[in-house]
Amino acid sequence: MDGCARVDGRTPWRTDTRGGGWVRAGCKDQCLGRLGAPNQTPTRTVPKTLASGHSAMSAQVWTPVLLDNPLMCPLGAMLMAIRLRGMDPEETALLTQALARSGQKLEWPEAWHPHLVDKHSTGGVGDKVSLVLAPALAACGCKVPMISGRGLGHTGGTLDKLESIPGFNVVQSPEQMKLLLEQVGCCIVGQSEKLVPADGVLYAARDVTATVDSLPLVTASILSKKVVEGLSALIVDVKFGEAALFPDQEQARELARTLVGVGASLGLRVAAALTAMDSPLGRSVGHSLEVEEALLCLDGAGPPDLRELVTGLGGALLWLSGQAEAQARGAARVAAALDDGSARGRFQQMLAAQGVEPALARALCSGSPARRRQLLPGARDQEELRAPADGTVERIRALPLALVLHELGAGRSRAGEPLRLGVGAELLVAVGQRLRRGTPWLRVHRDGAALSGSQRRALQGALVLSDRAPFAAPSPLAELILPPGPAPEAAQEHHVHVAAGSGFQDLAPALAAQTPGSS
Ligand code: URA
Repeated sequence: MDGCARVDGRTPWRTDTRGGGWVRAGCKDQCLGRLGAPNQTPTRTVPKTLASGHSAMSAQVWTPVLLDNPLMCPLGAMLMAIRLRGMDPEETALLTQALARSGQKLEWPEAWHPHLVDKHSTGGVGDKVSLVLAPALAACGCKVPMISGRGLGHTGGTLDKLESIPGFNVVQSPEQMKLLLEQVGCCIVGQSEKLVPADGVLYAARDVTATVDSLPLVTASILSKKVVEGLSALIVDVKFGEAALFPDQEQARELARTLVGVGASLGLRVAAALTAMDSPLGRSVGHSLEVEEALLCLDGAGPPDLRELVTGLGGALLWLSGQAEAQARGAARVAAALDDGSARGRFQQMLAAQGVEPALARALCSGSPARRRQLLPGARDQEELRAPADGTVERIRALPLALVLHELGAGRSRAGEPLRLGVGAELLVAVGQRLRRGTPWLRVHRDGAALSGSQRRALQGALVLSDRAPFAAPSPLAELILPPGPAPEAAQEHHVHVAAGSGFQDLAPALAAQTPGSS
Protein backbone atom coordinates (compact mmCIF):
# COMPACT_ATOMS: atom_id res chain seq x y z
CA MET A 1 0.00 0.00 0.00
CA ASP A 2 2.84 2.40 -0.79
CA GLY A 3 3.69 2.66 2.87
CA CYS A 4 0.17 3.60 3.97
CA ALA A 5 -2.27 1.30 5.69
CA ARG A 6 -5.63 1.79 3.98
CA VAL A 7 -7.72 2.07 7.09
CA ASP A 8 -5.77 2.70 10.24
CA GLY A 9 -8.58 4.14 12.33
CA ARG A 10 -6.65 7.33 12.91
CA THR A 11 -6.05 8.80 9.52
CA PRO A 12 -8.69 10.82 7.70
CA TRP A 13 -9.49 8.89 4.55
CA ARG A 14 -11.44 10.09 1.66
CA THR A 15 -12.19 8.21 -1.47
CA ASP A 16 -10.70 9.82 -4.52
CA THR A 17 -13.69 9.86 -6.79
CA ARG A 18 -11.65 11.09 -9.72
CA GLY A 19 -8.88 8.51 -9.53
CA GLY A 20 -11.08 5.72 -8.23
CA GLY A 21 -8.61 4.72 -5.52
CA TRP A 22 -8.27 5.41 -1.84
CA VAL A 23 -6.39 8.49 -0.83
CA ARG A 24 -5.29 9.31 2.65
CA ALA A 25 -6.04 12.97 3.07
CA GLY A 26 -2.84 14.71 4.02
CA CYS A 27 -0.64 11.84 2.86
CA LYS A 28 2.12 13.60 0.95
CA ASP A 29 2.41 11.09 -1.85
CA GLN A 30 -1.39 10.68 -2.15
CA CYS A 31 -0.91 6.92 -2.07
CA LEU A 32 -3.59 4.95 -3.80
CA GLY A 33 -5.03 1.77 -2.48
CA ARG A 34 -5.38 -1.35 -4.54
CA LEU A 35 -9.09 -1.67 -4.93
CA GLY A 36 -9.21 0.31 -8.14
CA ALA A 37 -12.05 2.15 -9.74
CA PRO A 38 -15.54 1.43 -8.48
CA ASN A 39 -16.53 -0.39 -11.63
CA GLN A 40 -13.52 -2.65 -11.89
CA THR A 41 -12.62 -5.73 -9.89
CA PRO A 42 -14.90 -5.23 -6.89
CA THR A 43 -18.08 -5.47 -8.92
CA ARG A 44 -17.10 -9.01 -9.75
CA THR A 45 -15.85 -9.97 -6.33
CA VAL A 46 -18.62 -8.43 -4.23
CA PRO A 47 -21.49 -10.90 -4.20
CA LYS A 48 -24.63 -9.54 -5.72
CA THR A 49 -26.55 -10.43 -2.58
CA LEU A 50 -24.21 -8.28 -0.51
CA ALA A 51 -24.00 -5.50 -3.05
CA SER A 52 -27.70 -5.10 -3.50
CA GLY A 53 -29.12 -7.29 -0.76
CA HIS A 54 -29.77 -4.15 1.25
CA SER A 55 -32.87 -3.66 -0.84
CA ALA A 56 -34.32 -6.56 1.06
CA MET A 57 -33.13 -5.05 4.31
CA SER A 58 -36.12 -3.33 5.72
CA ALA A 59 -36.12 -1.00 8.67
CA GLN A 60 -36.77 -4.02 10.85
CA VAL A 61 -33.43 -5.51 9.84
CA TRP A 62 -31.21 -2.43 9.58
CA THR A 63 -32.20 -0.77 12.79
CA PRO A 64 -31.48 -3.56 15.29
CA VAL A 65 -28.31 -4.51 13.44
CA LEU A 66 -26.96 -0.99 13.58
CA LEU A 67 -28.05 -0.18 17.08
CA ASP A 68 -27.76 -3.37 19.04
CA ASN A 69 -24.64 -4.90 17.68
CA PRO A 70 -22.94 -3.22 14.80
CA LEU A 71 -20.04 -5.67 14.94
CA MET A 72 -22.37 -8.63 14.48
CA CYS A 73 -22.99 -7.48 10.95
CA PRO A 74 -20.27 -7.14 8.35
CA LEU A 75 -21.13 -3.48 8.42
CA GLY A 76 -17.90 -2.39 6.77
CA ALA A 77 -18.45 -4.85 3.95
CA MET A 78 -22.00 -3.68 3.52
CA LEU A 79 -20.93 -0.05 3.41
CA MET A 80 -18.19 -0.85 0.93
CA ALA A 81 -20.63 -2.77 -1.22
CA ILE A 82 -22.95 0.23 -1.23
CA ARG A 83 -20.01 2.50 -2.02
CA LEU A 84 -18.98 0.33 -4.95
CA ARG A 85 -22.33 -0.68 -6.38
CA GLY A 86 -24.49 2.23 -5.38
CA MET A 87 -28.17 1.96 -4.51
CA ASP A 88 -31.18 2.89 -6.54
CA PRO A 89 -33.51 5.62 -5.27
CA GLU A 90 -35.93 3.10 -3.83
CA GLU A 91 -33.20 1.37 -1.84
CA THR A 92 -31.86 4.73 -0.70
CA ALA A 93 -35.33 5.72 0.46
CA LEU A 94 -35.63 2.43 2.37
CA LEU A 95 -32.34 3.01 4.13
CA THR A 96 -33.34 6.60 4.90
CA GLN A 97 -36.56 5.41 6.49
CA ALA A 98 -34.75 2.72 8.44
CA LEU A 99 -32.32 5.26 9.87
CA ALA A 100 -35.11 7.73 10.62
CA ARG A 101 -37.17 5.08 12.41
CA SER A 102 -34.26 4.18 14.69
CA GLY A 103 -35.28 7.10 16.91
CA GLN A 104 -38.26 9.23 17.72
CA LYS A 105 -40.25 11.17 15.13
CA LEU A 106 -40.76 14.72 16.25
CA GLU A 107 -44.37 15.79 16.71
CA TRP A 108 -45.35 19.43 16.35
CA PRO A 109 -48.63 21.36 16.68
CA GLU A 110 -50.58 21.40 13.42
CA ALA A 111 -50.36 25.19 13.22
CA TRP A 112 -46.57 25.04 12.90
CA HIS A 113 -46.54 22.93 9.75
CA PRO A 114 -46.28 25.64 7.08
CA HIS A 115 -43.46 27.26 9.07
CA LEU A 116 -41.24 24.20 9.66
CA VAL A 117 -38.12 24.56 7.52
CA ASP A 118 -34.48 23.55 7.69
CA LYS A 119 -31.19 23.69 5.83
CA HIS A 120 -28.33 21.18 5.69
CA SER A 121 -24.90 21.34 4.09
CA THR A 122 -22.68 18.60 2.74
CA GLY A 123 -19.84 20.40 4.50
CA GLY A 124 -17.38 23.04 3.46
CA VAL A 125 -14.37 24.94 4.74
CA GLY A 126 -15.47 28.00 6.72
CA ASP A 127 -19.14 27.06 6.37
CA LYS A 128 -20.91 28.76 9.27
CA VAL A 129 -24.18 29.40 7.40
CA SER A 130 -26.35 27.33 9.76
CA LEU A 131 -25.32 29.42 12.77
CA VAL A 132 -26.75 32.51 11.09
CA LEU A 133 -29.57 31.06 9.03
CA ALA A 134 -31.43 29.18 11.79
CA PRO A 135 -31.96 32.29 13.95
CA ALA A 136 -32.58 34.51 10.90
CA LEU A 137 -35.37 32.19 9.76
CA ALA A 138 -36.78 32.12 13.30
CA ALA A 139 -36.85 35.92 13.20
CA CYS A 140 -38.87 35.61 9.96
CA GLY A 141 -41.50 33.52 11.74
CA CYS A 142 -40.19 30.04 10.89
CA LYS A 143 -39.74 27.03 13.14
CA VAL A 144 -36.30 25.51 12.58
CA PRO A 145 -35.68 22.18 14.38
CA MET A 146 -32.15 21.70 13.04
CA ILE A 147 -30.59 18.30 13.72
CA SER A 148 -27.03 18.74 12.61
CA GLY A 149 -24.02 16.49 12.13
CA ARG A 150 -20.56 16.79 13.60
CA GLY A 151 -18.99 16.65 10.19
CA LEU A 152 -16.29 14.34 9.00
CA GLY A 153 -14.44 17.16 7.29
CA HIS A 154 -11.10 18.68 8.14
CA THR A 155 -12.39 21.42 10.40
CA GLY A 156 -15.42 20.03 12.24
CA GLY A 157 -19.13 20.71 11.76
CA THR A 158 -21.82 23.09 12.96
CA LEU A 159 -22.13 21.41 16.35
CA ASP A 160 -18.40 21.65 16.95
CA LYS A 161 -18.52 25.37 16.22
CA LEU A 162 -21.39 25.89 18.63
CA GLU A 163 -19.58 23.89 21.28
CA SER A 164 -16.78 26.44 21.23
CA ILE A 165 -19.26 28.67 23.08
CA PRO A 166 -18.83 27.80 26.77
CA GLY A 167 -21.88 25.97 28.13
CA PHE A 168 -23.58 25.28 24.80
CA ASN A 169 -25.49 22.02 24.93
CA VAL A 170 -26.10 20.28 21.61
CA VAL A 171 -27.84 17.27 23.09
CA GLN A 172 -31.49 18.08 23.38
CA SER A 173 -34.42 15.76 23.80
CA PRO A 174 -37.46 16.02 21.51
CA GLU A 175 -39.33 17.62 24.44
CA GLN A 176 -36.62 20.26 24.86
CA MET A 177 -36.61 20.89 21.12
CA LYS A 178 -40.32 21.58 21.20
CA LEU A 179 -39.86 24.04 24.04
CA LEU A 180 -37.10 25.79 22.10
CA LEU A 181 -39.24 26.07 19.00
CA GLU A 182 -42.07 27.49 21.10
CA GLN A 183 -39.90 30.03 22.87
CA VAL A 184 -37.22 30.91 20.31
CA GLY A 185 -38.31 29.48 16.96
CA CYS A 186 -35.08 27.54 16.34
CA CYS A 187 -32.63 25.12 17.88
CA ILE A 188 -29.52 23.37 16.65
CA VAL A 189 -29.09 19.93 18.17
CA GLY A 190 -27.11 16.78 17.56
CA GLN A 191 -28.13 13.34 16.51
CA SER A 192 -28.52 11.41 19.78
CA GLU A 193 -29.87 8.19 21.32
CA LYS A 194 -33.38 9.51 20.73
CA LEU A 195 -32.73 11.31 17.46
CA VAL A 196 -31.73 9.13 14.52
CA PRO A 197 -29.25 7.04 16.56
CA ALA A 198 -28.56 4.64 13.67
CA ASP A 199 -27.16 7.52 11.61
CA GLY A 200 -24.59 8.11 14.36
CA VAL A 201 -23.45 4.49 14.14
CA LEU A 202 -23.32 4.54 10.37
CA TYR A 203 -21.57 7.92 10.28
CA ALA A 204 -18.76 6.67 12.53
CA ALA A 205 -18.43 3.43 10.54
CA ARG A 206 -18.24 5.34 7.25
CA ASP A 207 -15.47 7.46 8.68
CA VAL A 208 -13.16 4.47 9.10
CA THR A 209 -14.17 2.50 6.03
CA ALA A 210 -13.51 5.07 3.28
CA THR A 211 -17.22 5.20 2.48
CA VAL A 212 -17.95 8.77 3.48
CA ASP A 213 -18.45 9.95 -0.08
CA SER A 214 -20.97 7.33 -1.15
CA LEU A 215 -23.82 9.20 -2.78
CA PRO A 216 -26.66 7.02 -1.43
CA LEU A 217 -25.10 6.95 2.04
CA VAL A 218 -24.80 10.73 2.11
CA THR A 219 -28.38 11.01 0.89
CA ALA A 220 -29.74 8.62 3.52
CA SER A 221 -27.67 10.23 6.27
CA ILE A 222 -28.88 13.75 5.50
CA LEU A 223 -32.50 12.92 4.77
CA SER A 224 -32.96 10.58 7.75
CA LYS A 225 -32.25 13.49 10.09
CA LYS A 226 -34.69 15.68 8.19
CA VAL A 227 -37.52 13.17 7.75
CA VAL A 228 -37.99 13.02 11.53
CA GLU A 229 -38.23 16.81 11.72
CA GLY A 230 -41.61 16.85 9.93
CA LEU A 231 -40.64 19.76 7.68
CA SER A 232 -42.57 21.83 5.22
CA ALA A 233 -39.39 22.49 3.20
CA LEU A 234 -35.69 21.64 3.33
CA ILE A 235 -32.81 23.10 1.39
CA VAL A 236 -29.53 21.21 1.07
CA ASP A 237 -26.39 23.16 0.26
CA VAL A 238 -24.46 20.70 -1.91
CA LYS A 239 -20.86 21.85 -2.24
CA PHE A 240 -18.64 21.15 -5.20
CA GLY A 241 -15.02 22.09 -5.81
CA GLU A 242 -11.62 21.13 -4.54
CA ALA A 243 -12.52 21.10 -0.84
CA ALA A 244 -15.97 19.53 -1.18
CA LEU A 245 -17.04 15.96 -0.48
CA PHE A 246 -17.80 15.69 -4.21
CA PRO A 247 -15.26 17.92 -6.00
CA ASP A 248 -16.78 17.34 -9.41
CA GLN A 249 -19.81 19.55 -10.17
CA GLU A 250 -21.51 16.82 -12.19
CA GLN A 251 -21.31 14.40 -9.26
CA ALA A 252 -22.49 17.08 -6.87
CA ARG A 253 -25.43 17.69 -9.21
CA GLU A 254 -26.23 13.97 -9.16
CA LEU A 255 -26.22 14.07 -5.36
CA ALA A 256 -28.45 17.14 -5.43
CA ARG A 257 -30.94 15.42 -7.75
CA THR A 258 -30.90 12.28 -5.63
CA LEU A 259 -31.60 14.30 -2.50
CA VAL A 260 -34.47 16.10 -4.20
CA GLY A 261 -35.91 12.89 -5.71
CA VAL A 262 -35.56 10.61 -2.68
CA GLY A 263 -36.87 13.42 -0.48
CA ALA A 264 -39.94 13.73 -2.71
CA SER A 265 -40.56 9.96 -2.57
CA LEU A 266 -40.61 10.24 1.22
CA GLY A 267 -43.00 13.18 1.19
CA LEU A 268 -40.25 15.67 2.02
CA ARG A 269 -40.06 18.83 -0.03
CA VAL A 270 -36.33 19.21 -0.73
CA ALA A 271 -34.51 21.77 -2.88
CA ALA A 272 -30.77 21.61 -3.42
CA ALA A 273 -28.38 24.49 -4.05
CA LEU A 274 -25.07 23.74 -5.74
CA THR A 275 -22.45 26.05 -4.28
CA ALA A 276 -18.75 26.40 -5.01
CA MET A 277 -16.23 25.25 -2.43
CA ASP A 278 -12.84 26.10 -3.90
CA SER A 279 -12.09 29.03 -1.61
CA PRO A 280 -13.26 29.06 2.03
CA LEU A 281 -16.64 30.60 2.73
CA GLY A 282 -16.14 33.98 4.40
CA ARG A 283 -12.83 35.04 5.89
CA SER A 284 -12.53 32.74 8.93
CA VAL A 285 -11.91 29.04 9.34
CA GLY A 286 -11.86 27.31 12.74
CA HIS A 287 -14.42 26.97 15.48
CA SER A 288 -14.24 30.11 17.65
CA LEU A 289 -13.23 32.24 14.67
CA GLU A 290 -16.25 31.04 12.72
CA VAL A 291 -18.58 31.84 15.61
CA GLU A 292 -17.10 35.36 15.63
CA GLU A 293 -17.76 35.69 11.91
CA ALA A 294 -21.29 34.32 12.25
CA LEU A 295 -21.92 37.03 14.87
CA LEU A 296 -20.62 39.66 12.44
CA CYS A 297 -23.08 38.43 9.84
CA LEU A 298 -25.81 38.58 12.49
CA ASP A 299 -24.77 42.22 13.06
CA GLY A 300 -25.72 42.84 9.41
CA ALA A 301 -22.05 42.98 8.44
CA GLY A 302 -19.37 40.38 7.64
CA PRO A 303 -18.15 38.98 4.33
CA PRO A 304 -20.49 39.36 1.31
CA ASP A 305 -20.30 35.70 0.21
CA LEU A 306 -21.52 34.49 3.61
CA ARG A 307 -24.38 36.99 3.69
CA GLU A 308 -25.31 36.12 0.12
CA LEU A 309 -25.56 32.43 0.89
CA VAL A 310 -27.54 33.01 4.08
CA THR A 311 -30.04 35.30 2.39
CA GLY A 312 -30.20 33.22 -0.79
CA LEU A 313 -30.81 29.88 0.97
CA GLY A 314 -33.20 31.49 3.45
CA GLY A 315 -35.10 33.25 0.68
CA ALA A 316 -35.52 29.99 -1.21
CA LEU A 317 -36.85 28.29 1.93
CA LEU A 318 -39.36 31.04 2.68
CA TRP A 319 -40.55 30.85 -0.91
CA LEU A 320 -40.68 27.04 -1.08
CA SER A 321 -42.67 26.81 2.13
CA GLY A 322 -45.15 29.36 0.85
CA GLN A 323 -44.08 32.05 3.32
CA ALA A 324 -42.81 34.45 0.64
CA GLU A 325 -44.17 35.20 -2.83
CA ALA A 326 -40.80 34.88 -4.50
CA GLN A 327 -37.29 33.84 -3.58
CA ALA A 328 -36.09 37.44 -3.79
CA ARG A 329 -38.79 38.60 -1.39
CA GLY A 330 -37.77 35.89 1.03
CA ALA A 331 -34.10 36.86 0.68
CA ALA A 332 -34.97 40.48 1.42
CA ARG A 333 -36.78 39.44 4.60
CA VAL A 334 -33.81 37.40 5.77
CA ALA A 335 -31.51 40.37 4.99
CA ALA A 336 -33.79 42.65 7.00
CA ALA A 337 -33.66 40.25 9.97
CA LEU A 338 -29.85 40.44 9.84
CA ASP A 339 -29.85 44.23 9.57
CA ASP A 340 -32.40 45.03 12.26
CA GLY A 341 -30.83 42.80 14.93
CA SER A 342 -33.82 40.45 15.22
CA ALA A 343 -31.82 37.44 13.95
CA ARG A 344 -29.05 38.16 16.44
CA GLY A 345 -31.68 38.44 19.19
CA ARG A 346 -32.92 34.93 18.31
CA PHE A 347 -29.37 33.63 18.33
CA GLN A 348 -28.87 35.05 21.82
CA GLN A 349 -32.12 33.44 23.00
CA MET A 350 -31.13 30.12 21.42
CA LEU A 351 -27.74 30.15 23.17
CA ALA A 352 -29.32 30.91 26.54
CA ALA A 353 -31.96 28.21 26.03
CA GLN A 354 -29.27 25.71 25.08
CA GLY A 355 -27.16 26.07 28.19
CA VAL A 356 -25.05 29.22 27.71
CA GLU A 357 -25.08 31.57 30.71
CA PRO A 358 -27.55 34.34 29.77
CA ALA A 359 -24.96 37.01 30.65
CA LEU A 360 -22.42 35.37 28.35
CA ALA A 361 -24.98 35.01 25.55
CA ARG A 362 -25.82 38.70 25.94
CA ALA A 363 -22.17 39.78 26.04
CA LEU A 364 -21.38 37.73 22.93
CA CYS A 365 -24.30 39.08 20.98
CA SER A 366 -24.01 42.72 22.01
CA GLY A 367 -20.24 43.00 22.40
CA SER A 368 -17.66 44.40 20.01
CA PRO A 369 -15.63 41.98 17.89
CA ALA A 370 -12.69 42.48 20.30
CA ARG A 371 -14.87 41.66 23.32
CA ARG A 372 -16.25 38.57 21.59
CA ARG A 373 -12.73 37.34 20.96
CA GLN A 374 -12.03 37.57 24.70
CA LEU A 375 -15.12 35.52 25.51
CA LEU A 376 -14.46 32.60 23.16
CA PRO A 377 -11.67 30.04 23.44
CA GLY A 378 -8.58 31.38 21.72
CA ALA A 379 -5.35 29.83 20.50
CA ARG A 380 -2.04 30.54 22.20
CA ASP A 381 -0.21 32.15 19.27
CA GLN A 382 -0.74 33.83 15.94
CA GLU A 383 1.48 33.75 12.91
CA GLU A 384 1.08 35.77 9.70
CA LEU A 385 1.99 34.82 6.17
CA ARG A 386 2.87 37.42 3.54
CA ALA A 387 2.21 37.52 -0.19
CA PRO A 388 5.30 36.22 -2.03
CA ALA A 389 4.74 38.50 -5.07
CA ASP A 390 2.55 41.28 -6.45
CA GLY A 391 -0.69 40.01 -7.98
CA THR A 392 -4.46 39.73 -7.90
CA VAL A 393 -5.94 37.08 -5.61
CA GLU A 394 -7.40 34.59 -8.06
CA ARG A 395 -8.31 31.99 -5.47
CA ILE A 396 -7.51 30.98 -1.91
CA ARG A 397 -7.47 27.22 -2.05
CA ALA A 398 -9.56 25.85 0.78
CA LEU A 399 -8.16 22.33 0.73
CA PRO A 400 -4.50 22.96 1.68
CA LEU A 401 -5.70 25.46 4.26
CA ALA A 402 -8.04 22.91 5.79
CA LEU A 403 -5.41 20.15 5.77
CA VAL A 404 -2.91 22.30 7.67
CA LEU A 405 -5.55 23.43 10.16
CA HIS A 406 -6.50 19.80 10.63
CA GLU A 407 -2.88 19.02 11.49
CA LEU A 408 -2.90 21.90 13.96
CA GLY A 409 -5.89 20.39 15.77
CA ALA A 410 -8.92 22.13 14.20
CA GLY A 411 -10.25 18.86 12.77
CA ARG A 412 -10.63 15.36 14.07
CA SER A 413 -9.24 12.22 12.49
CA ARG A 414 -11.73 9.94 14.13
CA ALA A 415 -15.16 10.31 15.69
CA GLY A 416 -15.07 11.63 19.25
CA GLU A 417 -11.57 13.08 19.11
CA PRO A 418 -11.25 16.43 20.95
CA LEU A 419 -10.71 19.58 18.89
CA ARG A 420 -8.60 22.66 19.49
CA LEU A 421 -11.41 25.18 19.37
CA GLY A 422 -9.23 28.29 19.13
CA VAL A 423 -7.13 26.97 16.24
CA GLY A 424 -7.98 28.43 12.85
CA ALA A 425 -7.10 31.01 10.25
CA GLU A 426 -8.25 34.46 9.22
CA LEU A 427 -8.02 35.43 5.58
CA LEU A 428 -6.76 39.01 5.54
CA VAL A 429 -7.45 39.48 1.83
CA ALA A 430 -10.37 38.73 -0.49
CA VAL A 431 -10.62 36.97 -3.83
CA GLY A 432 -10.29 39.56 -6.60
CA GLN A 433 -8.16 41.94 -4.53
CA ARG A 434 -4.85 43.32 -5.80
CA LEU A 435 -1.91 42.62 -3.45
CA ARG A 436 1.62 43.91 -3.14
CA ARG A 437 4.45 41.57 -2.33
CA GLY A 438 4.91 41.35 1.44
CA THR A 439 1.26 42.16 2.29
CA PRO A 440 0.04 39.91 5.14
CA TRP A 441 -2.66 37.67 3.65
CA LEU A 442 -3.26 34.96 6.27
CA ARG A 443 -3.21 34.93 10.07
CA VAL A 444 -2.94 31.46 11.54
CA HIS A 445 -4.09 30.90 15.13
CA ARG A 446 -2.19 27.99 16.63
CA ASP A 447 -1.65 26.33 19.99
CA GLY A 448 1.58 24.48 19.36
CA ALA A 449 5.00 25.15 17.89
CA ALA A 450 5.60 27.52 14.97
CA LEU A 451 4.39 26.33 11.58
CA SER A 452 6.77 23.82 10.03
CA GLY A 453 8.43 24.50 6.69
CA SER A 454 6.05 22.13 4.90
CA GLN A 455 3.02 23.69 6.56
CA ARG A 456 4.14 27.18 5.51
CA ARG A 457 4.76 25.92 1.98
CA ALA A 458 1.34 24.28 1.85
CA LEU A 459 -0.33 27.46 3.09
CA GLN A 460 1.60 29.70 0.70
CA GLY A 461 0.52 27.34 -2.08
CA ALA A 462 -3.09 28.12 -1.15
CA LEU A 463 -2.69 31.73 -2.31
CA VAL A 464 -3.19 31.76 -6.09
CA LEU A 465 -2.16 35.08 -7.64
CA SER A 466 -2.62 36.27 -11.23
CA ASP A 467 -1.84 39.32 -13.37
CA ARG A 468 -5.51 40.07 -13.91
CA ALA A 469 -7.05 43.41 -13.02
CA PRO A 470 -8.90 43.37 -9.68
CA PHE A 471 -12.37 41.84 -9.97
CA ALA A 472 -15.52 41.28 -7.91
CA ALA A 473 -15.50 37.86 -6.28
CA PRO A 474 -18.04 35.53 -7.92
CA SER A 475 -21.12 34.35 -6.08
CA PRO A 476 -20.69 30.90 -4.51
CA LEU A 477 -24.09 29.86 -5.87
CA ALA A 478 -24.14 27.96 -9.14
CA GLU A 479 -27.50 26.17 -9.42
CA LEU A 480 -30.73 25.59 -7.60
CA ILE A 481 -32.61 22.34 -8.13
CA LEU A 482 -36.22 22.51 -7.10
CA PRO A 483 -38.55 19.71 -6.03
CA PRO A 484 -41.31 18.35 -8.22
CA GLY A 485 -44.86 19.44 -7.57
CA PRO A 486 -46.26 22.72 -6.33
CA ALA A 487 -43.33 25.00 -5.64
CA PRO A 488 -45.41 26.76 -4.49
CA GLU A 489 -47.24 26.71 -7.86
CA ALA A 490 -44.86 24.94 -10.24
CA ALA A 491 -45.97 21.50 -11.37
CA GLN A 492 -42.69 19.86 -12.38
CA GLU A 493 -39.18 19.40 -11.19
CA HIS A 494 -37.43 22.60 -12.13
CA HIS A 495 -33.72 23.13 -12.46
CA VAL A 496 -32.57 26.69 -12.33
CA HIS A 497 -29.10 27.14 -13.72
CA VAL A 498 -27.38 30.28 -12.66
CA ALA A 499 -24.67 31.66 -14.89
CA ALA A 500 -21.28 31.79 -13.17
CA GLY A 501 -20.88 34.95 -11.20
CA SER A 502 -24.48 36.02 -11.47
CA GLY A 503 -25.33 35.58 -7.80
CA PHE A 504 -28.19 34.08 -5.90
CA GLN A 505 -30.39 37.18 -5.99
CA ASP A 506 -30.46 36.89 -9.77
CA LEU A 507 -32.60 33.80 -9.39
CA ALA A 508 -35.54 35.98 -8.54
CA PRO A 509 -36.75 36.65 -12.09
CA ALA A 510 -36.29 33.00 -13.09
CA LEU A 511 -38.17 31.76 -10.08
CA ALA A 512 -40.87 34.39 -10.18
CA ALA A 513 -41.44 33.61 -13.86
CA GLN A 514 -42.03 29.95 -13.11
CA THR A 515 -45.42 28.75 -14.15
CA PRO A 516 -46.93 25.31 -13.79
CA GLY A 517 -45.39 23.01 -16.32
CA SER A 518 -42.42 25.21 -17.09
CA SER A 519 -39.01 23.65 -16.81
N1 URA B 1 -24.02 15.59 6.32
C1 URA B 1 -24.58 14.50 6.91
O1 URA B 1 -25.39 14.63 7.82
N2 URA B 1 -24.24 13.29 6.46
C2 URA B 1 -23.35 13.10 5.47
O2 URA B 1 -23.08 11.98 5.13
C3 URA B 1 -22.75 14.24 4.86
C4 URA B 1 -23.11 15.49 5.30
